[in-house]
Amino acid sequence: MNTRTKADRATTTTAPASSRSRCNGACNGKCRCPKPDLTRPDMADLSRYPLVSTIRAVSFDADVVTIAWSDDGISRFHHGWLRENSPDPASRHPHSRERLVSPLDIPADLRPESVTLESPVALAVTWDMAGQPVSRFDAGWLRAHCYTRGDFIANPPRHLASLTPQPAYWNAVMYSDAMLRVWLRDYLETGWSVISGVPDEHDLSTVLGARIGVVRSSNFGFQFDVMSKAAPISNAYTASDLPLHTDMPHYELPPGTQILHCLRNDADGGESLLSDGVAVANLLRNEHPEAFRLLSQISVPFRFQDVDGDYNSRHRIIECDAAQNPIFVNWSNSTIAPLDADPEIMPNLRAAIRLFLTYLQDPRFLITLKLEAGQMLVFDNRRMLHGRKAFDPQTGGRHLQGCYLDTSEVLSRLRMLERDSGESEEPVEAVAVA
Ligand SMILES: [Fe+2]
Repeated sequence: MNTRTKADRATTTTAPASSRSRCNGACNGKCRCPKPDLTRPDMADLSRYPLVSTIRAVSFDADVVTIAWSDDGISRFHHGWLRENSPDPASRHPHSRERLVSPLDIPADLRPESVTLESPVALAVTWDMAGQPVSRFDAGWLRAHCYTRGDFIANPPRHLASLTPQPAYWNAVMYSDAMLRVWLRDYLETGWSVISGVPDEHDLSTVLGARIGVVRSSNFGFQFDVMSKAAPISNAYTASDLPLHTDMPHYELPPGTQILHCLRNDADGGESLLSDGVAVANLLRNEHPEAFRLLSQISVPFRFQDVDGDYNSRHRIIECDAAQNPIFVNWSNSTIAPLDADPEIMPNLRAAIRLFLTYLQDPRFLITLKLEAGQMLVFDNRRMLHGRKAFDPQTGGRHLQGCYLDTSEVLSRLRMLERDSGESEEPVEAVAVA
């Protein structure tokens, strides 16, 4: 927030007592949510923005428009931000809903001529320069996009290692959009899920993947078979134990979701392992800040090679957002390349890695389960490290079929389901970017 240097032309308006009744149309005719007795501006946006609160009063000064909400929250929006988000047809295409106006089109000294509450949910800004549109904003949209939300919305705790997913079933997830929506929300919260009742058929991992979004191919193929092979190109294709790891850190962007369909798992051993790497990263940040600093600031090399390819990429083992909150992890003992850190740092970096791997196996974080034929394990590959215990091929078989999706696909599917459901839910946040 900029410091106010002067409050020139300050003005305040309050909401009228009543206005007309109309659904804003975002529910596509399926709306079951309470319909406000208010007029809501069209924001050229298919997402639904629940009316968390109406606007009680509005004012502006040289820098910002200030909104006082009926629940006593305060939001402030800079004038240029409001202008570039104006939903008028010249600024945002009414069909594509993509932005037309560029920051270069907006004069740096543009200010409101007036800011008016047309209703408790409709804010109109008239600009002080010729040729500018009248910008009308919906209160739900403004509240959802408020970037001073710390004034009144606490950040919910996330990445609790104790979270356990709800039971999920193939027919429900595959044939009910409502159940798919519930399952996706639960999966995104916990970071993993087991779907039961999956038919004994091949190629179903990609069937579920396609129900969610666009399946992502890789050097292991559109779909891959995890089983003991005579000439394995990966440690995954052996009967050996597989330490906790993330898949594909040899790519510039490891996939966000992995689906593994268990077709057979009757050999001795072969239990699956999961551990919440982001939860462990949070623990390191709080209890071992120097190890956290090294793992979140130094990138390490990963490499996969076979006769068909040679993939190299670098990642920090703990990836953080701009506020230094851990959001992703990258680790694979199978594909880590020789470390090349500064010699002054190397001993401490290696010690930090040992600490990270030790906590991953701590009972507070380690999850052990033995998949059965007819179950499908789905997990967030950038949050939950996975592995397996060794199995004895002499006692039976172990065969998983799998595929990948990017998290963007999962979030897109959930947003679409919630857009069409007509039920109020918390907004689905964008995927964080390191
Ligand atoms: Fe793996």
